[in-house]
Amino acid sequence: MPTVRVSAEAPDAAILETAAGLLRAGRLVAFPTETVYGLGANALDAAAVDRIYEAKGRPPINPLIVHVASLAMARELAVEWPDLAERLARRFWPGPLTLVVRKADRVPGVVTGGGGTVGLRMPAHPVALALIERAGIPIAAPSANRSNEISPTTAQHVERSLGSCVDLVLDGGATTVGIESTVVDVTGAAPRVLRPGMITAIEIARVANVAGVADVASAGRVAAPAREAAEAPRSPGMLGKHYAPRGRVMLVPARELDAAADTARRDVAAGRRVGALVFTSLGVTGVQEHTMATDPGAYARHLYATLHALDIAGCELIIVEEPPRSEEWRGVVDRLQRATLA
Ligand code: TXA
Ligand code: MG
Repeated sequence: MPTVRVSAEAPDAAILETAAGLLRAGRLVAFPTETVYGLGANALDAAAVDRIYEAKGRPPINPLIVHVASLAMARELAVEWPDLAERLARRFWPGPLTLVVRKADRVPGVVTGGGGTVGLRMPAHPVALALIERAGIPIAAPSANRSNEISPTTAQHVERSLGSCVDLVLDGGATTVGIESTVVDVTGAAPRVLRPGMITAIEIARVANVAGVADVASAGRVAAPAREAAEAPRSPGMLGKHYAPRGRVMLVPARELDAAADTARRDVAAGRRVGALVFTSLGVTGVQEHTMATDPGAYARHLYATLHALDIAGCELIIVEEPPRSEEWRGVVDRLQRATLA
């Protein structure tokens, strides 16, 4: 699986053309977006999309996000393009927002997990945008990791997870947002967040001009009213374990950090490797401790690389100090909660 370095600001045209040619020929190309690396295939080619599921070991009912380079390209993939989609796309695209709309017939069922809706996103990364434009086709791309593993924020993470399953990896350096896009269902009268991300429900509600946005994500622990939850087309990828390192992850409120430090001390004494993501310090010698940013954007940017590093180091226990519960931390807290699911 060749990996090719490509400038994130001004990607080389010949490299992009090679990658675009592979995509048009039904092959798999991993590429950087602003959120995480994607594993791309021609979204209109069912056989090519099949290869994504195979490479990831992904259950076929879990739908893929289709990446576009323009609003016009997005509209062509939807049987109807609601005013809500138009407003959100105009405000947040290109950017870390996926809009779930009713799919057009030309989108193969394999992309949507057999369902009637499709997730669309215009990524804010020059390499991703130029690649889609050059290929001239919409690109289906999940995160470029094996199912249930931590998403990749560098080309090295992709290589480690997918090995020889990819025909080409475009290495555009580390991604900047760091966690996956916010997924919003816009098929109803009001938007519904299916997966929280760095674009918050509050920002979405403001643009949608509604009082609030139902949030049906929440690691399977649905907070929305029962009626709403029952009606919501849930995001199959959000069920169960996801985004998890191999070791056990403990999410600990600041006030319980002393007790967690005792656990860490015992584990270290027993010869186990222990890692920590904290805002201050556990104060335990031998723990591989990472001091995390107190700003949610910076925290998100470094989160997966930190978890990957602790995973590679063979940590059997990872203690994570709980971030604040405010809306701007919602995406980060969601991923941390998922990482604790065994
Ligand atoms: O930031 C991102 O979204 C990255 C980059 C590569 O764009 N992609 C990504 O894809 O995270 P993936 O496949 O790892 O996650 C896609 C999520 C899953 O939770 C899936 O269930 C949900 O989006 N999804 C996709 N299409 C959907 C649909 N039609 N209805 C409901 N949920 C959908
Ligand atoms: Mg994923």
